[in-house]
Amino acid sequence: MTETKVTAEAIRGMKARGERIAVLTAYDCPMTRLLDEAGVPLILVGDSLGMVVLGYPDTTHVTMAEMEHHVRAAARANPRALLAADLPYRSYETVADAVANAKRLVAAGAEAVKAEGGTEIAEQVCAIVGSGIPFLGHLGMLPQHVLEEGGYHVKGKSEQEHQRLLADAHALAKAGAFAVVLELVTPRVAKEITQQLLIPTIGIGAGPDCDGQILVTPDLLGMLPWFSLKHVKPKLNAAEQMRAVVKEWKDSVMAR
Ligand code: KIV
Repeated sequence: MTETKVTAEAIRGMKARGERIAVLTAYDCPMTRLLDEAGVPLILVGDSLGMVVLGYPDTTHVTMAEMEHHVRAAARANPRALLAADLPYRSYETVADAVANAKRLVAAGAEAVKAEGGTEIAEQVCAIVGSGIPFLGHLGMLPQHVLEEGGYHVKGKSEQEHQRLLADAHALAKAGAFAVVLELVTPRVAKEITQQLLIPTIGIGAGPDCDGQILVTPDLLGMLPWFSLKHVKPKLNAAEQMRAVVKEWKDSVMAR
């Protein structure tokens, strides 16, 4: 990547150039700035903020107002990276809602939006892209559907799921998505989608063969010791280090 501002077109072009794509989430200004300074080309203000920042049990509680608040904070870092943001639960059920809410996220500072689903939201994707807003797809395990699905399950194991994922991936590409996140998709199906699509796939728990990988930054940094995920090995034990530093400081204050 060059030092110029990253666009959705540049992210799409990384696949053609054989460049791997590292994507992380951020929910505030300092983290966005840190990730940007580390050279991450695509930063997502994910609705995972519901769980990792706001203390909700899942992403279905996150509102547009909360997304806008965190997008504004992240955008104040003025990153070189492309700043994408999630359309939250039930904010894109109709084409009109999808476009209006995507525009609200852009007004808050997002440069692209992401929503969950394939063929069933293709009209919304076409309309968002048609209004000039770059769109990032999200297939596989869809966290906004966790309640009806009864948990976080790997997708693509059955032939029916396999074919549905392929059809959905092609539908998103045709609708104009610049890339697609594959969450908890079997590595075999993720590889097949990656081989078939011209746009990049960004995997999370979807094996090594996607064009890029995305992680929830607090998971990567070991900031959430209360939960463990099969697909993430924290690279830092930030929670333990923070507890130790805070305790040491507290003890020093109390000892005076
Ligand atoms: O909300 C989020 O952080 C996401 C990523 C896990 C892909 O959607």
